[in-house]
Parts: sequence; C-alpha cells; structure tokens
Amino acid sequence: MNFGQLSWGKTNRLVQIFRPDKKGDHHTVMLAVDHPYFYGPTTGLEDPRKTIQPLVPYADAISPAKGTLEYCLDPLVATPVILRVTGGNSMTRRQELSDEEIITSVEEAVRLNAVGVSVSVYIDSDHQKQTIKNLGKLANKAAKYGLLVLGITAVGANLEKKVKGEGKGDPDFDPGKYFAHAGRIIQENGANIVKTYFCENFAQVREGIQVPIVVAGGKKVPEKQALKYTFDAIQAGVEGVDMGRNIFQAENPTAMIQAVSSVVHKGKTVDEAYELYEQLKKE
Ligand code: R5P
Repeated sequence: MNFGQLSWGKTNRLVQIFRPDKKGDHHTVMLAVDHPYFYGPTTGLEDPRKTIQPLVPYADAISPAKGTLEYCLDPLVATPVILRVTGGNSMTRRQELSDEEIITSVEEAVRLNAVGVSVSVYIDSDHQKQTIKNLGKLANKAAKYGLLVLGITAVGANLEKKVKGEGKGDPDFDPGKYFAHAGRIIQENGANIVKTYFCENFAQVREGIQVPIVVAGGKKVPEKQALKYTFDAIQAGVEGVDMGRNIFQAENPTAMIQAVSSVVHKGKTVDEAYELYEQLKKE
C-alpha cells in the first residue's frame, strides 16, 4: 500500500484501518452504515444497536454518521471510526442528491474520536464545484488534527443505474472512465482514501489513483455474487471494501462479514469464502 508522505498521525490512523496480513500487505473491511443520513431507516439499519453492534468487532473500521454512532454503537468497542460529515439531501428528492454541504464539523469528529471523516463528491453533477469545495475545506481542517479524509465518488441521480442498479441512469455512462476521472480529482483535492465502485475496465481507475482505494458494495445481491465482487476488486488491486447492504442485509450478516474478510485478508477464493459463509451460518 502506498502511504505517501503523510504525517505520523495520519500514517498511524491509516494502519489502524488497513490492517497488515501475514505477508505485510495492508487491507481493510470497513462496514458502511452511513446510509440513514439520506436514506432514513434503511432495511437492516432500523435499529443498529441490534443489527450492527454485533458486527462491529469483525470490521476493521466502521463508517457511520453521527446519530448512529452516538446512539447505537458502543464506545467500549475500539474499532476505528470514519465519520460521515456531509449531508443536506434525501432519497425522496433523488434529483437533489448532489446538493451536499458539510454538516458535522471536524472538531466534532475529533470529539467523537474518529480517525477520519468522509465526504461525497459528485463529479459531473449540478453541484460538482460545491462538493469539491466541501472536500477541500475538510482536507484543510482535517490536516490540523491529523485526521484522514475519505472521498467518495458519489454518483448522482443520472448516473446511478449502471453503477448501483438503481435510479434512471444514462445509457452512455462509462463507469471505468468516470471513476478514473472522479477518483483522481478527489485524490488531488485532498482525499487520503478514495471510495468508489468496482466496475469493468477497473485497471484505468487503479492506474490513475495512488491513494488507497476501497469499494462500496452497492445494492444487495446474492451472497456468492457479493463475495465474487469482493474477490475481483481485490484482484484488481483495491485495498479493501467499505461495504454496507451486502453485509447487513445478508441472510446471516455475522457470517457474511467474516466471509468477506476471508477474501480481503486471507486471499480466499469465492468458493472457499462461500463455503465459510455456509459453515458459519450453521453455527
Ligand atoms: C452511500 O450511501 C454511502 O456512502 C454508503 O456507505 C455506500 O454506498 C456503501 O454502502 P453499500 O455497500 O451499501 O453500497
């Protein structure tokens, strides 16, 4: 993994998230639970105290927004937190999704003992400039405290279909080209980690981004398919996943997060990981 020339604090926070395996390679399984900040009570996140808290010990990091963190997650569990700090939108107004601002301050993230903050950047949307500026402002503030910035290549309403299988979509949208373009802009404007989606022609995305990459999981698919997605992304050189629905909406979320982790950290094949999932489900 490329640690760049970051400060001691940022480097140390990165290795808290990206755990070394036996060979010394650094990878991560982040558990994404920030959806309610604009989805409301997402399936599986209605009461995270019951559904998410049991998964947290299996995650290398968690990425909630403030409400879920303070009211639903146990401060005695020492899993690093990357705090969602942007918002201002709602799924009920899909066309306005890109209209985000910084909602939670960096000082608040420090008080909550986050190791980093996350921000969505909507390239090629109506609010491209605004969301790049959000990233830039956060990067400047976060640097004062040595906090990491995770920049998310968020796709607005017009691009969603091909990437997430949701929304209206644009038939001419080329995901590889888009994520290579968007991810590099996000790196250059201050992100220490880029979160994107795994897609066809991913080599151009990896080639053009030097910071660690994590991939979101997207909408729920059958468990074996989600494990294949994870395997293919790791093979393509990403440092990990920031996966939500394909873990917490799985038939057995505790088994699923361990199966995903076996692919990310232990190099298990899809069949081996799925076998592990089936075995853990029975226990
Ligand atoms: C957007 O809703 C958030 O950034 C999610 O954290 C992200 O989409 C990852 O979650 P999932 O794996 O469910 O797509």
